[in-house]
Amino acid sequence: MPSIADVLQARYGTAPEFVPEAATDTIAVQLLHRSVRSFKPDAVKPGLLELLVAAAQSAPTSSHLQAWSVVAVQDPARKARLAKLAGNQKHILEAPLLLMWLADLSRLRRTGQDRKAVTDGLDFLEMFLVAVMDATLAAQNAATAAESNGLGICYIGGMRNHPEQVAAELKLPPETFAVFGMVIGHPDPAKPTQIKPRLNLKTVLSHETYDTSREKESIAQFDSVMGQFYHAQSMNGDSWTEHALPRIHGPESLSNRERLNEALRILGFGLK
Ligand SMILES: Cc1cc2nc3c(=O)[nH]c(=O)nc-3n(C[C@H](O)[C@H](O)[C@H](O)COP(=O)(O)O)c2cc1C
Repeated sequence: MPSIADVLQARYGTAPEFVPEAATDTIAVQLLHRSVRSFKPDAVKPGLLELLVAAAQSAPTSSHLQAWSVVAVQDPARKARLAKLAGNQKHILEAPLLLMWLADLSRLRRTGQDRKAVTDGLDFLEMFLVAVMDATLAAQNAATAAESNGLGICYIGGMRNHPEQVAAELKLPPETFAVFGMVIGHPDPAKPTQIKPRLNLKTVLSHETYDTSREKESIAQFDSVMGQFYHAQSMNGDSWTEHALPRIHGPESLSNRERLNEALRILGFGLK
């Protein structure tokens, strides 16, 4: 295991700006995260899926509503259909396990209906956000649990490119939405991945009030860090800015997700 100082150096692409006094094994796992997109074919150990979901369920959940569910997909044919819907991402085919993380208001709706209770609160944007937050916190707990077991993971936001077709493939009831997928498996040692640098810590951390005073110089410095990273990885691009700005240029940059509001209404969400 490399030292925390070395890991932080990789995380920021420069010497750490602080002394990491209280690092723990859990923090080391988090700092070492990198998305994995090449996997060995080996299945995950029996029982591990359930342990990952137990870790996910241990995440905090708004008002203890637990407004999320997860579908584990291992059938190669179903994975292939979902991979196509997510933009033909080959790592979905390669990974032995695909977890589909769902914002799920349907269970609360059914529970209310069973008890003839009014459930109009579910029709509001707030409850949709609650479900997305719950699903996301649960997923990230599972991600850290998997990584602490030596597995690699990659989130798959591409599952939002065609939300209705994904819902049909998973036979989701109304008011249930696949926020993202997550591929999980044993990383292929022949294709190791490197820690991808992040914005300088002071760019994202303000004290007391929001502070942009050093933002321009920090982003310029990060552009140069990412230029070196892309070059070392033989990836296209000279800077982070050059990578990020085209992704927010307009609706055409959103891979069909510019129609998400309409898709969510078709899936039965009120979003008032
Ligand atoms: C919500 C979410 C959706 C993502 N969707 C995809 C995806 O569809 N395909 C993919 O290859 N990576 C996807 N990623 C991975 C990001 O590209 C990756 O986290 C980012 O480039 C930083 O790299 P790192 O995770 O290796 O640090 C996604 C990440 C998140 C958090």
